[in-house]
Amino acid sequence: MMYSRIIGTGSYLPARVVTNAELESKVRTNDQWIVARTGIRERRIAGDHETTSDLAVAAAKAAIAKSGIAPEEIDLLIVATSTPDVIFPSTACIVQDKLGLHGFPAFDLQAVCAGFVYALATADQFLRAGGAKCALVIGAEVFSRILDWQDRSTCVLFGDGAGAVILKRSPEPGIIQTRLKADGRYRNILTTPGYISNGQIVGHPFLKMEGSAVFKFAVKALADLATETLELAGLTQSHLQWLVPHQANIRIIESTAKHLGLDMERVVVTVDKHGNTSAASIPLALDSAAEQGKFSSGDLILLEGIGGGFTWGAVLLRW
Ligand code: ACO
Repeated sequence: MMYSRIIGTGSYLPARVVTNAELESKVRTNDQWIVARTGIRERRIAGDHETTSDLAVAAAKAAIAKSGIAPEEIDLLIVATSTPDVIFPSTACIVQDKLGLHGFPAFDLQAVCAGFVYALATADQFLRAGGAKCALVIGAEVFSRILDWQDRSTCVLFGDGAGAVILKRSPEPGIIQTRLKADGRYRNILTTPGYISNGQIVGHPFLKMEGSAVFKFAVKALADLATETLELAGLTQSHLQWLVPHQANIRIIESTAKHLGLDMERVVVTVDKHGNTSAASIPLALDSAAEQGKFSSGDLILLEGIGGGFTWGAVLLRW
């Protein structure tokens, strides 16, 4: 039996910090409202010429350096993003080229805020089946480009960034369970519905969200998914050491932790500093916790993501 294991993590945040106080000068909002409703205090915003692939490459280089592999060992590259550099080629192909690599499969995966767990689960399938030996899996976004900065109900929630992991084939776990879900009936409660046709943008090109519908859906879906994933692995919540959830909203995170009976000290929280970075949020949180030395070898960790589509998924792993 072969598994896949995370052997290194890396991340990158753009230099520009945008605080809640700065947003107060742009839209009718205030720090107190944003902190109380979301837990967000600041977020990073990419520079005008900084693209998703730039962020992804910086995170990838950090993950490669920390894992100690030679870049040439990578034989699979997946970039989870909903804000690709261009319509095509894929951001993954651009990242591959910028890393000076070529010849192995590279593709984007679009599952919005669930993108990273979808990408990690996909890479795990490749590695366990023998289709690859060493995968670079990245979540990278510049959501600041698809936000309406006049819309206070959405622009305060998101940020830009990238996180990456190196996943290697291994006889030891590693990833022990993955579970992915989608329900397209909920596609309209969180969407960026505009598209390009005949050289024109057709429809609304900015992110739209029914906040309370998303909130209710996320709380229930993440609680059910955590229970199901542990059950499938023959484990219970008492075995869990860490929860690394998608960083959208502290209230959603606290609700999942409560459902799992996990003390908040066992939950990785970065939403206060990063905001919601969509597909980048889980690998950013993972790298931040790994850098702080929070994880011990053998710890059981649950990653959970949820986003537009609706899509949601979990990866249960041993560190
Ligand atoms: N500043 C001040 N007031 C605001 C702001 C703001 N930035 N945004 C909205 N308000 C106002 C509204 O206009 C409304 O005013 P009204 O009562 O006079 O009409 C009031 O605050 C309450 O608005 P609600 O939308 O009902 O506030 P709610 O408590 O639902 O919080 C929020 C909104 C934070 C978006 C919440 O619904 C939420 O967290 N939803 C989950 C969404 C999420 O996390 N999305 C991330 C993407 S999806 C994902 O990653 C899973």
